[in-house]
Amino acid sequence: MSHAVTLPERGLFDAWRAAARIAISHRIAPEEIEWTEGGGTESGGLFAASPLPDAIGPHKAMVPQAFVKLAGSVIWHSAPERLSALYRALWRIDRRDGDPLSQADPLGRRLALMAKSVGRDIHKMHAFVRFRELPSEGRRRFVAWFEPEHDTLEPGSAFFARRFADMDWIIATPRLTARFEAGRLSFHPGGARPDLPEDGSEHLWATYFANIFNPARVKLDAMRAEMPKKYWKNLPETRLIPDMLKDAEARVERMRAAATTLPRPGAAAVSTRYRGTMPAAPDLPATLEEARAAAMQCRRCGLCEAATQTVWGEGTPTAPLMIVGEQPGDREDLEGRPFIGPAGQVLRGAMAEVGIDPASAWLTNAVKHFKFAPRGKQRLHQRPDRQETLHCRWWLGLELALIRPGLVVALGATAAFALTGNDAPLAPRRGRIETGPNGGPVLITWHPSAILRQRDRAAAARLRGALAQDLARAARLCGLAPGQSNATSLRGT
Ligand code: URA
Repeated sequence: MSHAVTLPERGLFDAWRAAARIAISHRIAPEEIEWTEGGGTESGGLFAASPLPDAIGPHKAMVPQAFVKLAGSVIWHSAPERLSALYRALWRIDRRDGDPLSQADPLGRRLALMAKSVGRDIHKMHAFVRFRELPSEGRRRFVAWFEPEHDTLEPGSAFFARRFADMDWIIATPRLTARFEAGRLSFHPGGARPDLPEDGSEHLWATYFANIFNPARVKLDAMRAEMPKKYWKNLPETRLIPDMLKDAEARVERMRAAATTLPRPGAAAVSTRYRGTMPAAPDLPATLEEARAAAMQCRRCGLCEAATQTVWGEGTPTAPLMIVGEQPGDREDLEGRPFIGPAGQVLRGAMAEVGIDPASAWLTNAVKHFKFAPRGKQRLHQRPDRQETLHCRWWLGLELALIRPGLVVALGATAAFALTGNDAPLAPRRGRIETGPNGGPVLITWHPSAILRQRDRAAAARLRGALAQDLARAARLCGLAPGQSNATSLRGT
């Protein structure tokens, strides 16, 4: 071994390429070079080794583009011998000694497998990095911990820089840390896993995962191949997997048993036309407006087929109080606004009585499509089942994450279940404050249609009184009661 080449940890590909170009231009054979990396200066060889010449030599090597591309991928593989293997391939290409770019050649095959493994590792990084938000004053700041199999943070970071260009972020890995600050990407030494803050948006991932999880399609081996177990510990959603798998068979049975809602004549045509005019949904809506636009195209469950349209929430996007009903009714479905039918009138009446202006709150529903059974010309309300409610929790989770109300009022059992995950009977819980998905408070109360359903006038008056009393308490807690300043608001607590 007569030459030692030590490459830096960062900018590895450019450094290897520059060294290989010099070595081949002096026709230095592969067995004469010892490649190491990590910025050290020691040669591990038995013989005294000198560095490569400083300048390009007389020989002009022709290097095919396909090799440059292959080398640009293989270089990030974690196997130390990749540096010498790449130079051996370059040497043989230059001497026209076989075809190390072909997979029929043992060296070519090894390099191709390495490139494939690197590509897969970058893909996994893009899919499984989970950012957590840090407190910030200006640009939003995020941090993530990831353990790649190869040295893929450097080639994989450009994707995040493009995608999250308007925020600052750090991705820490054991070997390298990528920092993206004020639009500039830089790399620094890695280290041990930092203490990551809990993040309110984690429940979004969990909700999303719970929603896309189809128990009828569980294939454990395929699932492990796509999301290898070693990534699970850093993913919030995978904490749900054991429970979801436990329940999978029962859920498949429930799906089979569940009756479908018959579409209203003409509804499919209306909704197809409607969807056709909507822009494609972004991956994870960043604003309420984006979330609303995405919800308009929702096809998470069968309810969208029969309903006229998605009924999104309305009110103040920074409301301290969110009021959540069950699902839109017949009028809401036709007009596209929540709480404008008979139950909505009861709710709005009670809100007016305790001094809550609907425009200062956010009114929405746990399920965004009307579920009904056709009876002649009528559409009779049907309660959404557990699965439909869980599917729709994706949207409710987005509303909560984007509005961040200080208090949520759950009207009735469906909203209470969607907001707390607890499906216990409502009566003993009414008037209590339970905990929502962000750890935020959820005040449980009657649904206004429970009041409308009461045959007994005294019972109806009692429920109506309880609803008004709960809304008055909510208004006080949120600083929305008449004459009360927002200083006492629960927001941010
Ligand atoms: N009932 C609800 O729960 N929500 C509405 O929007 C209307 C009636």
